[in-house]
Formats: sequence, C-alpha cells, structure tokens
Amino acid sequence: MDRDGIAAVVAELTLAEKVGLVHGAEDVEGTATGFVPGVERVGIPPIRLTDGPLGVRTDEPATAFPSSPALAATFDPDLAERFGRALGREATARGQDVLLGPGTNLIRVPHCGRNFEYFSEDPVHAGAFAAAVTEGIQSAGVVATPKHYVANSQETRRAEVSARVDESVLRELYLPAFRDAVEAGAGSVMSSYNRVNGTYASEHERLLTDVLKGEWGFDGYVVSDWFGTESVVDSANAGLDLQMPGTSVEELLESMGVAPDAGVEPTDGDAAGVDGTEGAGAAGEEAAPEGLFDAAADSPFAGGMPDPTSGGRYATELGPAVERGDVPESRLDDMVTRILRSLDAVGHLDGEASGDGEAGGDATTGALDTPEHRDLAATVATRGTVLLKNDGVLPLADDADVAVVGPNVDEALLGGGGSSEVTPFVRTTPREGIEARADGAVTVAPGLPRVEGISMFEAMDGAGDPGEDEVAPEGGPDDPGAVDAEGDDERSVDIEGAAAAAAGADVAVVFVRDRATEAADRDSLRLPGRQDDLIAAVADAADRTVVVANASGPIETPWRDDVDAVLAGWYPGQAHGEAAAAVLYGDADPGGRLPVTFAPEDAYPTADERRFPGVDGEAVYDEGLLVGYRHFDATGDGPTYPFGHGHSYAEFRYEGVEAVGPSTVEATLSNVAARPGREVVQAYVGVSDTPAAPAAPDERIRPPRELGGFAAVELAPGESTTVEIELDERAFERYDASAGWTVDAGEHVVEVGRSSRDRRGSATIER
Ligand code: BGC
Repeated sequence: MDRDGIAAVVAELTLAEKVGLVHGAEDVEGTATGFVPGVERVGIPPIRLTDGPLGVRTDEPATAFPSSPALAATFDPDLAERFGRALGREATARGQDVLLGPGTNLIRVPHCGRNFEYFSEDPVHAGAFAAAVTEGIQSAGVVATPKHYVANSQETRRAEVSARVDESVLRELYLPAFRDAVEAGAGSVMSSYNRVNGTYASEHERLLTDVLKGEWGFDGYVVSDWFGTESVVDSANAGLDLQMPGTSVEELLESMGVAPDAGVEPTDGDAAGVDGTEGAGAAGEEAAPEGLFDAAADSPFAGGMPDPTSGGRYATELGPAVERGDVPESRLDDMVTRILRSLDAVGHLDGEASGDGEAGGDATTGALDTPEHRDLAATVATRGTVLLKNDGVLPLADDADVAVVGPNVDEALLGGGGSSEVTPFVRTTPREGIEARADGAVTVAPGLPRVEGISMFEAMDGAGDPGEDEVAPEGGPDDPGAVDAEGDDERSVDIEGAAAAAAGADVAVVFVRDRATEAADRDSLRLPGRQDDLIAAVADAADRTVVVANASGPIETPWRDDVDAVLAGWYPGQAHGEAAAAVLYGDADPGGRLPVTFAPEDAYPTADERRFPGVDGEAVYDEGLLVGYRHFDATGDGPTYPFGHGHSYAEFRYEGVEAVGPSTVEATLSNVAARPGREVVQAYVGVSDTPAAPAAPDERIRPPRELGGFAAVELAPGESTTVEIELDERAFERYDASAGWTVDAGEHVVEVGRSSRDRRGSATIER
C-alpha cells in the first residue's frame, strides 16, 4: 500500500476504530506479548507483538539464541544480521508480526540486570549491532523494535528513576545506537519506563517528537513499554503512538492465569520453566507476588515494576480527549498512520510478509528450529566466546582426561530472567558437550548445588545471592526445573570431591555462572554463592585449571592468577555445551572480544551511589562521556580485562597502519602461528596520543580515545592481509551544546590494535 492508500484507509475509520488501533487488547489466541485486534471492516488484520531479543517468546518453543553481549563479542555485524533474520523468521512461524527487540541501551552500569539483553558499552559498537539485528528482523518481514528509548541503564527503580544527563552525553553515548537502528529501518521504537531529566520517556516530547521523529526522520511508531505510560493526553501529544499492553491490570493478571487479587497461591506447580526460571508473563499459571505492581513496596527492587494504575488508558480516555480537543484528531490520525505504515512496510497489510525467503522457510510461513537456526545459535555462541587468558593449556588435547566441575554443568544457560526468556526445542549442557567431544576420560563433579537462575518475580520478592548457605533449589528434587542427572548428590556442597576429581585428571574445566534478571540489578559482580571458593580449591588441586564463566556482563575474577585459562562464555543459549566444547578443544578459534570492560566493581564510575542506583529518585550521569573504557583510559586505572580484549589460538603481528582517506585506515597484519585464527582489528580515534585535557568548550572531559570502527579477519597460518577499516564519523565528532555536532580541526590520531589497551600502530588524519 502506498502513502495515499494508507491515508484513504485512515480517512475511513471512525474515532472508536482509530482508538482501537493505538492500544493493546487481550490476544484471543493468547500467543502474543502484545495484541492489537485490527479493523476487519477495512481489512486491517490483527497485529501480534512478541518478545524478545534472544529468541521468540510465545508459550511455545523457539530457538534460544545466545545473549546480546555474546553476539556483540563476535564483532561480526553480518552474523548479527543473519541472527536478526532468523529471529524474524521464527516470529513469523509463531504468527507474530512485531519483534520486541533488539535491546539497544548502552551498557553504562556493570550491575544492570538486563545487560544480557544489551550489546556494548560503546555507542559505535552497540549501534553496529542494533542496526544489523534490526535489518535482519525487518528483512524477514517482521517489524523490529529497538528498546528501551532511552537511558534505561538500570533496573533498580526503573519505573521511576530519572536519568540526569547532559544533552551532549545523551547525544554522544545513549542516543546513537537508536539512531543507527532507525536508519537501518526499524518500524518501531519502544520508550523506556524511566524518566530523562525529570520527564517520563513515554511523554518526552523532545526525545520522541523532536529528536526521533523530527531530526532522525523516523516515520514508524513509538510503543510504550508494558504499563510504562504515565498519562494519556501528555503521552499522545508528546509522540507516544501505541500503548501497551492496553489492558487493565485485572485483565492482564487474568490472561496470565493469576487471580486478580495479587498474592494468591500458585494454581499448580508448573510455574517453573524447564530451565528453572519462570516464564514471566507467558502462559504459566502462577501467583503474582505481593507488591508486584506496587511501586511503593518496601523492597530493594521496588520500582522495578511499573504501577499499572498510575497512568490513564488510551482505551478509555483517548477518545474523549480527542473529542474535547485535548489531543488533536490529526495527532490520532498520525498515530494510526505510523502503525499502519510500519506494518505495511513488512507486507502485513497485504497478507504477505515482505521477507526475501532466504535461509529456509518462506517469508509468509517463516521458519522455526531449522538446521540453519541451530547452527546459527551455535556459531554465535562459539564466535562470541572470549578467551580472556590462556597460558597454553587451551586448546585441550583430544585425549586429555578432563574433570568437569561446577554447580551448573548439567544446565544449558539460556539467559536471564524476565521478558526475554525463551524455551528451546533442543539444548546441550556443558557436560554433554564435553562428553561428546572428549577422547580422554571425563569425570563430573559439580562441587556445589546448582545455582538457580533468578526470575523476575523472585527479584521482586527480594531474593538475591544464595549466599554462604547453599540451599537446594526451591521445590526440592521434584522441582520440574531441576536437571538432575546425578540425583541428590549434586545438591550438596562437595568442594573437596570436586578438588579430588580435579587432582585425578589432566585438566579441570570449571563452569561458573552469575544470576541476572530484568527488574533487578545484580547486587555484586562477584559470582554468587561459593563458586569463587570452588575455583580456588580446584585450582589448588588440579594440574591445570580452565574456568568458563557464563555471565550477564562483567564479573570479578579474583582467582584469575591461580588458573591457566579463562573463557567468558556469556549466556550461550541452547548450544551451550557444543559451543563450549568447540572452543575448549580448538575446533573453533575463540573469536570473541569483550564488549564491556571487566574491572573491580569499585573501579567503575557508577560505584558512586549518586550515579547508581541514584539518590532521591535521580541517577546523575555526571561521569559524562567517561563510561566503560573511556573512563579507564582517562583515569589511567588498569581494568582487569579491557574493552576489545580477547585472545585467539593463533598469534598476529601488526606490520603497519596507514590512513588512506578522510575516514579510512588500513592495517597490515599476519598470522604468525601454526594454526588458523580470527582477529578483530579495532581502530580508536583520539585527539592526541596522551590522555586528553578538557577540550570541549563546556569543559567536559573528552575520552582519550573512542572506537571508530573494526574489522574481523580469518587468517591461515603464515597468511598476511591488509584490512580496511571505515571510521564512523562520530569518532571524530563531539556534540557541542550550542553548535551541535562539531569536528575539531587538527590532527586526529587513529590507533589500531587488538583492544583499547593493546594498540599496535597508529596513523593521523587531518581534519
Ligand atoms: C520489558 C520489555 C518487554 C515488555 C513485554 C517489559 O517489562 O521491559 O522489554 O518487551 O515487558 O514483555
């Protein structure tokens, strides 16, 4: 349909029909996260929106892909586009038209409970992935929804906290990835729960209308986060187009199988998902914990959920507001037009998805759990695994006798808690992956009871670190969520047994994990429970020790000097075991590089409580541009593992860096190892070689260097190549409060190398 066609349809709609298109309603089929019934009379079909960033979350299985930092760690946007396309195909196969992802927020707070849904601490890097995933989703005939716009950097009091952030910082750090996703064709953007400089994101006219729709030319629709609308008239006039879920809290609880009086007992015991976490909001039958929707509840996580009764409802109040003239009817027409335009762009209004039919499955039927999607899930998990340290123990010899240690060796770690939970068709656990690959003997010794994932509802109840007294998972051995290959033995603390198993093997591989969920932040970057003790004991007893850390974001690694190798495997999804084995045995080069800085938690700028979680309802972003590696480079403090860091099993020699254009550099490098490997060449732009003095007229401290671009290459033994890196204009620019985007005249130094701290050559570009 062309624009005139959409205008003609809108002109035919009654006021009530138009209002019916701009808010959610209960899905008659019960499969969607959000549902708009459409208007049959004029041929507008129903619209189904589904979570989320790591896979399609209906109440049925789908491919459980690795978490977003794993994808970002690949530094491979082409792979990310394929991933987005697969997400889109799976959404279509499940009858869904809109995907509620990618998670596009910049990682500012290392503790943020949703970092596993976000890409990177760097805006150019995050933007490359948000754009690639968006492009992939849209290319499959599904509307992408980059979220949560904007400055949703924490989960603590996410529904009310105000981010106090300067215009230039917002422009340089927090907005760019959203702009990239919009430029990549996103049909929708989700507003966040939080406030920005005092105004709720869902009614922030400057951000929604002036910047997003005006400056960036976004012609799709803005959807609210679920119950994240604080007003009707103000939101509609500010630019919020679609209110979700649109139902009252009673209707929502009823659709979730929960009695309207929150706090009732579970209706039966099957609330836990197969991975032991709850499919919050899916078709589970469970009780809402008390205080779930009570923003004033006296819990450390209060405010992690919005108060669904705080704002008005488009369903009941928007029509009268238009009749009164408080919201111009032209604005309502614009809201409807935007929604129809985005759905039409993916072929939804013609009953034909616009996808291109590649990679198995056709654009109208989609594709689910195909061999391609399984491979893709495994490839992302493998290529996203970061080898933080290796003294030569890896790759493992095929015939090594291996002790597989760790509380969760029988669990494929799918993700964190909350709206991104996916139930896969297939999964491999670390134990299965190693057993299938090893030629030597494999002994399994968990050492500790399983560390259960934390669900959003538990977080609401204030459940945190399991602490010193490891306890069996709730529900005991009958807990349907527990994968219990070895019986009750696995549930007791047996660090000595694990150490003994490690002593008897050639090498011990210890799998450890953190716990993270939407609606709560991690209270520590330390591994939960006694996992640090377990590693220490194993490292003491074993000949060689390898740690595989599966985490939502950065963790502290106090044992790193006592072990021989450390891998960061993030949340690897359904292919956990096979991906871990492929990297451990060297079937694949660990291609990942860190998308976030690893450092002691008190070394991050957000260690100041004014900055995180904030004081009196406000989180002050006065670290300015110094987020992630920008901070560590400016202070000179050494991170534990810097942004961009990661070893290959091969070794690369950099032979020269040259500027070949106003925004292009070339680097020549060779693989000097006897095995093939994948190198991620990174280019950082700065104003000079030395940490920059305050340069901007507004006296904001400029970061010494900023990622301008990157390129990945696979090189055979002895092979040399020259890679070209296109530098993003943003790496040269700064946002000046009065002049806008500005490039300072003079020499810009472009440093090229293996990480933000391991730079192997430089060139200068004159601007
Ligand atoms: C989350 C969104 C999600 C929505 C629908 C909210 O709690 O913040 O990311 O898409 O729920 O499940």
